[in-house]
Amino acid sequence: MRALVIGGSGGIGAAVAQQWRGRGGEVVGLSRARDGFDLLQPDLVEARLTALDGVFDMIIVASGALVSTRSAPEKALRDLSAEEMAAQFAINAIGPALVMKHAPRLLARRRRGVFAALSARVGSIADNRAGGWYSYRASKAALNQLIKTGAIELARTHREAVCVALHPGTVETAFTAHYPGRQKLSPQESAARLLDVLDGLGPQESGGFFDYAGAAVEW
Ligand SMILES: NC(=O)c1ccc[n+]([C@@H]2O[C@H](COP(=O)([O-])OP(=O)(O)OC[C@H]3O[C@@H](n4cnc5c(N)ncnc54)[C@H](OP(=O)(O)O)[C@@H]3O)[C@@H](O)[C@H]2O)c1
Repeated sequence: MRALVIGGSGGIGAAVAQQWRGRGGEVVGLSRARDGFDLLQPDLVEARLTALDGVFDMIIVASGALVSTRSAPEKALRDLSAEEMAAQFAINAIGPALVMKHAPRLLARRRRGVFAALSARVGSIADNRAGGWYSYRASKAALNQLIKTGAIELARTHREAVCVALHPGTVETAFTAHYPGRQKLSPQESAARLLDVLDGLGPQESGGFFDYAGAAVEW
């Protein structure tokens, strides 16, 4: 079993790669820190993905950022800036979409293949009760729409494909370092549960949004 892990230098991405290997699989990793794979450079992304040979049983995009040009997410409308919004869309929505662009070639046509991206529950519009975090929320909502749209297209040529957005839980990584005191999953636990969830999904669930416990998240 072969996985392509984008963002394996991150807390959850590294744990997903480790869990996959622990289950006997092979991992091809592309991350900014280790391989110079910067999702903000579309030409580089295109070239590096085009250079990959063979098909993958799972492609997972585990990269992302809570903030890009600020020290903390926006709390109020007065905090909005075009720069932050554009940067958040670039890393959280456009980057994963540039990877998903290659899914038709990198997933087998006639057998099961998974494309998953780490989204976030706060990207759910229906579940938005607290407000704030404008750029992050909106960029993950955009990611969710891209995943849903990609799943519809993939299903036409890859009948066994599973293309989903995932919420990993609140996980103890650099990402949540500024939020002490919250109940957090370890990266290994989140990764193990996400892989179990993906294992249990079939083509009928493609285009969905699932949390680490396997529950569907409302859009
Ligand atoms: N942790 C949580 O509680 C939580 C909750 C909900 C959703 N999520 C989502 O889960 C994902 C992973 O989070 P994490 O907790 O593992 O965070 P993390 O430890 O901070 O890892 C973030 C990853 O994203 C990569 N990345 C950032 N900017 C990049 C760029 N321009 N090009 C390529 N890669 C880039 C980082 O690469 P470098 O190593 O090069 O910086 C790193 O591999 C994110 O999408 C996040 O929104 C996390």
